Amino acid sequence: MLLEKKNVVLAVSGGIAAFKAASVASMLRKRGASVKCIMTEHATQFITPLTLREISGNPVAVSMFGDIPEFQVEHIALANWADVFVIAPATANVLGKIAGGIADDMLTTAVMATKAPVLLAPAMNSNMYLNPIVQDNMKKLTAYGYELIEPDKGHLACGINGIGRLPEPEDIVDYIELAACRSDVLKGKRVIVTAGGTREPLDPVRFIGNRSSGRMGFAVAKAAAMAGAEVILVAGTTDHLKTPKGDVHRIDVESTKNMKEAVDSYYDSCDLVIKAAAVADYRAVHPAENKIKKSDETLAIDMTKNPDILYGLGQRKKHQILIGFAAETTHVLEYGAAKLKKKNLDMLVANDVSAEGAGFQGSTNIATFLYPDGSMEKLEKMGKDELAGLIIERAAGLLARRK
Ligand code: CTP
Repeated sequence: MLLEKKNVVLAVSGGIAAFKAASVASMLRKRGASVKCIMTEHATQFITPLTLREISGNPVAVSMFGDIPEFQVEHIALANWADVFVIAPATANVLGKIAGGIADDMLTTAVMATKAPVLLAPAMNSNMYLNPIVQDNMKKLTAYGYELIEPDKGHLACGINGIGRLPEPEDIVDYIELAACRSDVLKGKRVIVTAGGTREPLDPVRFIGNRSSGRMGFAVAKAAAMAGAEVILVAGTTDHLKTPKGDVHRIDVESTKNMKEAVDSYYDSCDLVIKAAAVADYRAVHPAENKIKKSDETLAIDMTKNPDILYGLGQRKKHQILIGFAAETTHVLEYGAAKLKKKNLDMLVANDVSAEGAGFQGSTNIATFLYPDGSMEKLEKMGKDELAGLIIERAAGLLARRK
């Protein structure tokens, strides 16, 4: 888990969205983080410190002068302890205080004292949010290096529809993960990642597809974004996966032809391509214009070969590093090595999709990295996020050696 061994200070100020902090704290812990909460006095009107204490598993700091034995000078101890400091929700009042250099309670003193990345998740009524004073404060805070998590649009507690909703806890936790795990090993690099399966239409309502969930490719895109890359995520069909946070430009495609067009259009300007997509090798020669009606006992559909996108990239490779995947059910290393050579790749991630703990649907994978010089790296079963992190590490190494 990416947040394992990471310390997150979750600071809560007094808005109606404060109740969502309980879910944020809970999700952070599920993802492996240690969590300590700070609340403003006003926040305690919306959610009790006891709730956050129980969920975080740590005492909650509210008063500057309270007696919590764990910390020495409490606001400094919390500020130093944090790997990431997040304020969710951040009210107009708290944003204004921080922007104005006011530190008159536990939250504002601790945030001023921390050197950790600070994420601010404003949540308030639309008119308040759009008020030029609040907007100016946010600009000022951004200029100082504080990171803003944009509020969502939608139904607000005051009864209107507009901007100002605190994003869903899962989104906030994704932003925290990005801030906690960020590096710059791919800074300045443009990376194309393909993910998911492609679908080939048979008629207007049917298609041929595959079981790819897109999880591995999305994990790679997330790891590349965490490494500071600009990511072009070309996504086929997936299990309704959310676009990873960071500098990720997502292009949704359906067929192999669409995927090829998207990848080809960015190829010349990219530094690295990681092709995790499960691409349909064949398509119907003549997809029916109207729905195919049930008639004979058997149905034969003429199929023709799709272009091999990765092979094409290998043929016109210049400065790019190319990484392919091979999903096999037998002779994994042998077939993998043949694909690496044939497609002119710099690395291939081979895995046996029929093995327990590997494959399209689960959250883990068992992979072997193969290289053109015949060397290989056999890996244990691990989470797709962890494997994605290793792929990015190796890719960064290959890019550095290419210079
Ligand atoms: N690939 C591709 N275009 C295709 C087929 C595959 O770009 N038309 C890429 C995949 O994204 C993957 C690699 O090639 O990175 C290997 O894909 P895989 O399906 O394992 O192998 P194939 O080359 O299709 O060979 P086979 O299906 O016979 O195993």
